[in-house]
Amino acid sequence: MKKMKILLPLLATSFLCAASGKSIYDKTCAGCHGYQAEKIAAEHSKAIKGMSVEKIISDVEQFASGEKKAMPIAKIYKKNLLDRYSKEEIRSVAEYISTL
Ligand code: HEC
Repeated sequence: MKKMKILLPLLATSFLCAASGKSIYDKTCAGCHGYQAEKIAAEHSKAIKGMSVEKIISDVEQFASGEKKAMPIAKIYKKNLLDRYSKEEIRSVAEYISTL
């Protein structure tokens, strides 16, 4: 029971944070990818608008880890996202992008 008391607020907090996909996107991604995810980032990326949630998450993870080759600037930003935000938050960013 004691554990539940500690876990529940934590779960509630991560749930609230997970709702902030738009704010994370606008702050950390839109500068390159556009507020509607319509831009060609650094004259190089594909437009990420319309990509599926799973594809966005796997691209971000694979760019960050170097598994998939990307421009250094793209790699840095993907790595930042993984370092700074939880899996739930990253998923909410991907979900937000997929609605654009
Ligand atoms: C500094 C500019 C910049 C920022 C900021 C940035 N990206 Fe990117 N992104 C790129 C570039 C450039 C590529 C293309 C990488 C390559 O193929 O070399 C890319 C590629 C991608 C792709 C795959 C599309 C493709 O071309 O295959 C996804 C998905 C993506 N970014 C998501 C994000 C998300 C989510 C964020 C916010 C955390 C973000 N990016 C922030 C520059 C940026």
